[in-house]
Amino acid sequence: MAESITVLIVGGGGREHALGWKFAQDPRVQKVWFAPGNAGTTKVGTNLPMAATDMEGITRWAERERPGLVVVGPEAPLCAGLADRLREVGVRVFGPGAKGAQLEGSKSFCKDLLVEQKIPTARAGSFTEVGKALAFLESLACPIVVKADGLAAGKGVVIAPSREEAGQAIREMMEARVFGEAGARVLVEEFLVGEELSLHAVTDGKSLVLLPSAQDHKRVGEGDTGLNTGGMGAYAPAPRATPELLREVEEKILRPTLAGLAKQGIEYRGVLYAGLMLTAEGPKVLEYNCRFGDPETEVLLPLLDSPLWDLLVAAAEGELGRVKVKSGSGAAMTVVLAAEGYPAKPVLGQRIQMGEETMGTAIFHAGTKEGQDGVEVAGGRVLAVTGWGKDLRSARDRAYGAVGKIHFSGQHFRKDIGHRALEKVVGEG
Ligand code: AMP
Ligand code: GLY
Repeated sequence: MAESITVLIVGGGGREHALGWKFAQDPRVQKVWFAPGNAGTTKVGTNLPMAATDMEGITRWAERERPGLVVVGPEAPLCAGLADRLREVGVRVFGPGAKGAQLEGSKSFCKDLLVEQKIPTARAGSFTEVGKALAFLESLACPIVVKADGLAAGKGVVIAPSREEAGQAIREMMEARVFGEAGARVLVEEFLVGEELSLHAVTDGKSLVLLPSAQDHKRVGEGDTGLNTGGMGAYAPAPRATPELLREVEEKILRPTLAGLAKQGIEYRGVLYAGLMLTAEGPKVLEYNCRFGDPETEVLLPLLDSPLWDLLVAAAEGELGRVKVKSGSGAAMTVVLAAEGYPAKPVLGQRIQMGEETMGTAIFHAGTKEGQDGVEVAGGRVLAVTGWGKDLRSARDRAYGAVGKIHFSGQHFRKDIGHRALEKVVGEG
């Protein structure tokens, strides 16, 4: 029987739209489905009325329809074991099983593995008792980082300027359970100083393929101020990530991480996404994610010259050693258009006046849905507007050019995405 070149993408954000967009450019790919997708994904595939966390529904659907590949976008279904369930019913899947996904789902699991493998990371203690966590604060200089162990939708990290505030964060997480069970255990950690870098590797647990380096912008306001968000924009590649630095990260961080997983009998097939801090002592791991970043995916995929299908299937099959991957030489930038009130309290329902996609741009939908009279806002991060070109400047001009043609009431976005890299370019030029 001929192989079915069809894909189910689990999730409904900008990352999933970008994945589907890339697959749909491959003339061999016959069909792309999304569970649940958004108003943009219907342009490249078919939306299924199933939530990304509907383990039962997705497993039954995949068992029946037999897609050639399932790509799981978000961390929650991975941590809940969706990839394991799909593999059990004989469906090919890109994404780690629940054990591997603990790299993201349990910060203490991750920290233990890093320490065991002697991988550079912030010094930390892991606690289930408030008293012990408070006592540990005395051993750290301020500011101090307090993290809920489990998944907290990107909100479980507090950077406390003083011991008092760190203590308060510990109490809120462990006693008041502001992040629910995710705060039953906390990590108390040394604050690292430096520039942050996202590095994505596609892996089958043995080999790895590095994608271009990227930088995310987590704060809502220009100049990296204001509340933390899911990400207000990203660009790739990051000038700080020289070939030497990437080699160092691969040798001292990524490969020892795979070795640590293998020691525990974990076969990790998916994305290993390292959040790194480039400190004066070299790169250190801030965290691992077990999936593609959002909005990083929206800049990584336009730069990928090789077919996504071949790369992800090889990883899913444990045969990544066979594929050669090419990423383009240019640069990409994505600017997130957010809803009024985001991140605190996004206002939903506004009608979106959509611009056109011109050459070198793509409008990836994140929080959108098809309303009665057109596309409307359905989430805090609404669109990820991406531009790419020969360098970061042309990528930026295209991205912001496209942003200027989109409008919805209350929209806001950062006007300084890529500022660090662009300042550097100016400085050098
Ligand atoms: P995490 O979810 O662990 O990546 O934390 C979210 C954000 O908190 C990171 O992107 C960093 O900006 C910051 N952060 C986390 N851990 C540290 C640390 N040890 N030192 C400084 N900043 C940190
Ligand atoms: N860009 C941050 C994340 O995907 O977690």
